Parts: sequence; C-alpha cells; structure tokens
Amino acid sequence: MSERETWSTRAGFILAAVGSAVGLGNIWQFPFQAASNGGAAFVVVYLAAVLCIGFPAMLAEFVVGRSTERNPIDAFRELGGNSWSVVGALGVFAAFWILSFYSVVGGWVIRYILGSAQGAYFADPGGYFGAISSGPGALALHAVFMALVVGVVALGVEDGIEMGTKLMVPAIVVLLLGLGAWVATLDGAAAGYAYYLSPDLNTLADNIGSVLPAAVGQAFFTLSLGMGAMVTYASYLGDDDSLPVDGGLIVGLNTLVGLLAGLVVIPILATQVSVEAIRETSGAGAVFISLAEAFGQLPAGRVLGVVFFGVLLLAALSSAISLLEVVVSFVTRNTGWDRKPAAGVFGLAVFLLGIPTAFSASLTYAGTGALTWYNDLAYNLLLPISVLGVLVFVGWLRDDHATEELTKGTALGRDTAGTWIWAMRTVVIVAVVVTLFLGVQDLLVAAKVLADPVVAV
Ligand code: PFF
Repeated sequence: MSERETWSTRAGFILAAVGSAVGLGNIWQFPFQAASNGGAAFVVVYLAAVLCIGFPAMLAEFVVGRSTERNPIDAFRELGGNSWSVVGALGVFAAFWILSFYSVVGGWVIRYILGSAQGAYFADPGGYFGAISSGPGALALHAVFMALVVGVVALGVEDGIEMGTKLMVPAIVVLLLGLGAWVATLDGAAAGYAYYLSPDLNTLADNIGSVLPAAVGQAFFTLSLGMGAMVTYASYLGDDDSLPVDGGLIVGLNTLVGLLAGLVVIPILATQVSVEAIRETSGAGAVFISLAEAFGQLPAGRVLGVVFFGVLLLAALSSAISLLEVVVSFVTRNTGWDRKPAAGVFGLAVFLLGIPTAFSASLTYAGTGALTWYNDLAYNLLLPISVLGVLVFVGWLRDDHATEELTKGTALGRDTAGTWIWAMRTVVIVAVVVTLFLGVQDLLVAAKVLADPVVAV
C-alpha cells in the first residue's frame, strides 16, 4: 500500500488483518500445542487468553496504529518519545525472528503439496515427515518460501492478498468442516474428542505453570500481536471504523479456524495412538502426519491433499508477507532504501536466521531441536515482553488518548471506553506479567538452568 492512503473499504482492512492472523498458527501450531499441553484444559486457558488478553492487546495495537498513522517504531516514538520506540523495535525484531522459522514450516507445506500429488506420504506418513522436515531439502524449500514472500513484498502487490484471503478463509473453513465430518466416522476418534473437548481441571491445576505461557503465547502468535503487524494495519484505518467491532470479527474468525483444525487433527491422532502418547509425543510433526494419514485413507486423497496444502500455503504466505512487511515498511520510511532492496536484504537475513531450524527442526515425532527453541523463545519471552510494552504504554502512559481513540466510530461512551482501558492497565497487565514469569521459568528449566519441578500427571 502506498504512503498514507487509507483502506479503500473497511472489509479490505478486515481481510488483510484476517489474512495476517489466519495461518500456520491456526492449523499447524494450535492443534499440536493443544495436543501436547493437556487437550481441552489447554483449549480452555487459550480461549480465556484470547478473550481477556489477546483481544484487549489487539485493541491497544489498533489504538496506537490508527491514531498515529505510522509504522510501529515511529508510532511509539510519536506518542511517547524516543525511548518508547523500543517497544516498536521489539515488535519488528519479533517479526523478524518468527518469520525465520515460519518460513521453514512454510517450506514443509510446499513439500506436502508435491507429496500429495505423488501420493508420496501415503505408505508411511510418520517416516515421510521425518525425512522431509530437516536437511538440505527442507533448506531448499525454506528458500523457495522466502523467495515467494520477498517477491510479493518487493513488488508491493499486497493488494492481491486481499483477494487471496477472500478465497482462502472460506476455503479453509469448508475443508476443515468436511474433514471434521469424515473424522467423526472413524473408529477410535471418540477418545480424541474427549481429550480435546472435556477439560480435566485437576491436571490443569497441576500443570498451569507450563500451560499458561503456552496458551498466552499461542494467543499472541495466532492473533499476530506483539509483532507490529496490527499497529501497521490499523495505521491505514479511518476514524469512522469501530475498533472493538473490527477486532471482535478478526478474533472470532481466527479462533474458529484454530478450533476447527484441532477438531480434525486430535481425533485423527487418537485413532492411531493412545491419549497419553498424544500428550507426550505430539510435536511439530503432529498435524502434518495426521493429515497425511487422513489423505492416505480418503478417496481422492491426492486431490484433497493438494487442495488442502495449497490453501494452507496461501494462508501461510499471507501471514508471512505481513511479517516481512512490518520490517520493510519501517526500513523504507526511515532510510533512503527502496522497497526492492529492503525486501531482498531483509528476506535474505531472515533466510539465514532460519537455517538452524531447517536442519534440526524435527527429527522425531516429538520434534525437538532448533525449531522448538526458536518457537519457545518467541512464545515465552519475545511476544509477552513486546505485548506488555504495548499494554503499559497504552494503559498507563497514554490512557486518555487511548480512551478517546477507542470511542471513535463506536457508540461507546467515554466511561465505558475508560473502563476498558482501566482493565487493560490492571488485570490484563498483571496476567501478562505472571505469564512472562512462568514462561521464563519454563525456558530456564528447558535449558537446564533450573531444576525440573515435579510435574504431576
Ligand atoms: N498469526 C499468524 C499465524 O497464526 O499463522 C502468524 C503471524 C503473522 C504472526 C503475522 C505475526 C504476524 F505479524
């Protein structure tokens, strides 16, 4: 989008934001995070996190973006002075970091389109994933995925994304509903539904220390928060749009897609292994392996596989493009650089940063290695810190300004908007601080700096 035009239509903004939000986070991350963090217990905490933390944080990013009409770094600088531009910078860095492994997984999706066409994974879905998910082949497809992202951002043809999203979101919902109906007919799926849908609150209470950071991190990741993307998109929004209504639509649609993905993937896993095994061994491969299993059994599985992974690729691209766009729009506005070299150079840097994950991503079903580290650093550290910065800024420093901004385009009175901001500066911030504390503890345990606390199962 060129300099300071606003969205031609409100639908254009919502579509772009949904295109950014709906992606691998919904279809790949959400089911495997739910599978490995206690199933329904995770889902409950996740939904609460989306509603009570993610939604207010999205409004906070909208407020900053719309009221300044700037990219994230300049937006914080304009409203809060030089030192606050750090919050925007952290978002840009998080975007950069996340894109590096997002692209490796995007490469897997490309591989699965080809694999579906050839029926290559039908005989041994688990072995196939192990073989393609790391090594030179994974690296090559990471390069292809990044090249596609750089191409779109360099040409500045994101407008095409609007159209892609219009097709992609309904297509994903229809495909997931269809797959979901088929899964319901499978023997053994019932255990999966029970695990995914009926929460075991005792186990949750015992494991909340690791479930909470995972669920909140997932909420931020999937809603594209803490990475400047929503600040950037809202900077193109007019004053007559209602931020809460737009935010609600985006959050609702995005959540629906994730929940549906889980409803397909977890019951499929349950037809193959026990619920204990789902909890203990699900990792980055779980979704790819279970979907491959499904396409292997379904009539016309090759065509379905190509269509499904094709749509998933569109979803992944529209999200990845918004990540690189955050970086490139900042660089082009603040340096003399043109869009093309900026996209190329930063795209290359992202590619290089992603190399370790292309090599040690997921050699086993459980998927450990660089990918897990990159991911956990983003979930447990970068995203909560970045969102916390936005919340403190909006809730404490510019609360009057935010209250005013929130009422624009809505029927909300100042009092109601003020109450929202009050909740943001108190309850929401406390929740994020607690999450951050637990998340860091989790990282230190994983790094073996802290001893593993006794976990009740
Ligand atoms: N929300 C995207 C997903 O769930 O796949 C990932 C993402 C895109 C995060 C863009 C952040 C962002 F700025």
